[in-house]
This record gives sequence, C-alpha cells and structure tokens, in this order.
Amino acid sequence: MQYRFCSRQYRLRERVDMNSERWERPIGVFDSGIGGISVLRELRALMPNENFIFYGDSRHAPYGTKSLEEVRRLSCADAAYLKALGIKALVVACNTATSAAIRILREKYADMPVIGIEPALKPAVQLSEYPRVLVLATPMTLREEKFQALMQAHHKEADIIPLPCPGLVEYVERGETEGPALERFLVELFAEYMEHPVDCVVLGCTHYPFVRGAIQKVLGAHVKILDGGKGTARETKRQLRERALLNLSQEKGRVVLLNSLESENLRMLGYRLLNAKKEEKI
Ligand code: DGL
Repeated sequence: MQYRFCSRQYRLRERVDMNSERWERPIGVFDSGIGGISVLRELRALMPNENFIFYGDSRHAPYGTKSLEEVRRLSCADAAYLKALGIKALVVACNTATSAAIRILREKYADMPVIGIEPALKPAVQLSEYPRVLVLATPMTLREEKFQALMQAHHKEADIIPLPCPGLVEYVERGETEGPALERFLVELFAEYMEHPVDCVVLGCTHYPFVRGAIQKVLGAHVKILDGGKGTARETKRQLRERALLNLSQEKGRVVLLNSLESENLRMLGYRLLNAKKEEKI
C-alpha cells in the first residue's frame, strides 16, 4: 500500500497502466478535502481487493460555503484529474459536490459508474415511530434541490431538522477531531438540541464521521448517529458488479492518497484517518 501526497508532475507520472484490463484499474474517490477518507474506509472494508486513488482538494476546502458555480467548477476539475489517471469508476465522496455537480458528472462520464453520496435520511426515519432527526451538513447541501427533495419524500415519517454547520469541516481539516475547543463549538451549535433532545443525528458531510465521538459526547449516548459511507460503498459495489468491473484479484488492493495541498501534516493526517477504526480516537 502506498500513501502519497506529491507534486503535480510526480502525480502525473503515477498514471495507471492504460493497457491493464479495465476491471484492474483503480476507483477514483474525491472530496473537497480529507473528509472523504471516511467513505474510502468503507469502500476498502467492503472491497479490500480494489485499488483506490483518493484526491482531496484541501487547497479549496471548504466547498460548502462557496457558490454553486464555484463548487461545480471545482468538482469537474477534481473528476477530470482523476479520470486522466485512468480510473474505472468515480466516487464523489462529498455530499456538497454531489448536490452541486452529480448530474453534470454523470453526463460527462457516461462511460463509467459515477456514484454520489447523500445524507442517510432513509435509514434514520425508519429507526422508530416519527423520530426527531437532526441532519448535519454544509449550508450548500441543505439548500440544494437534492436534499430538499429527500426531505420532502420523508417529511411525514419524522420530524426532520436540518442544521447547517459552517466551521465544522475546518476542525477536521486541521486534524482537530477532539478536545475542548471542538466541544465548545459543538455545545454552541447544539444548544437547542441539548435542551430538546433528538433521537438521531445524520452526518450529512463526509468530514463529520471523524468528529462522531465529540458529537456523541455533547449530545449524549442515547442519540443514534448515522452516516452515508456504508450505503455509498454498497452502491459502488453494486454498480461495479452490474458492469462486470469488480476486481477479480485475490490480493489486497493499493491505496494512493493525493491532495491539492502538499503538506507533510496532511499526509500524516490522511494516513491516520484512513486507518482509524470508527470508534477509535484519532
Ligand atoms: N466533505 C464534504 C461534504 O460531504 C464537504 C465539506 C466542505 O468542503 O464544505 O459535504
């Protein structure tokens, strides 16, 4: 396995062997930053023999507070970068980029599976009779049509409370996934829901699973916390199988981590996040 955060020229020399069978090629995964590694963990757990190239655009994170046009432009650039590396499928491991650009990316890359992620509202509303569900996501994800339609589809089954969390992504990008400053930020963000508790929290941003422990601590052990990583991994596998693109190798696959920022700290952080178990402190 290799972990690389390297220069653009170097990265381009790392192209995949274009003569290899299509099913042998890597799956490309991108996010606005390192949060998408939470999805990569699920993808690897489900398909350990697949090869992955993860690209985090930390230089431009966060996406969730930018304009729709800007996020579309950045998402298209991220996808084009991975496509040029010879990937067989694309996973948009970012709720924000999915809301802004999934349709455009699917049209552009009709020749390969393009899988997005959305807040795990469906399993959340099934947890109990009319549960109170808090959906945490970026302002853009909650504002866009995709989430609005999802909420509309389930509004009779649960009390759904969307809560934009600007500022939370930055904690994860800094590697600050626990500690008093983060907890103070969360206490302020959740003040209302500590007084009027919710049954379930949906992590509608791929950065948030890395602060799951802190969220649980602030909201209490009784609150169920869900994210969309596993569902996205299952859907990716389904689509690969459907198109006969599953990797048939018996060997463990390779993972290459790339980032638009060249920073040793980020490289180490990416490695830690990738290997941390969900329950583990990182
Ligand atoms: N990780 C991303 C998501 O799932 C976006 C965070 C951001 O860049 O604002 O929404």
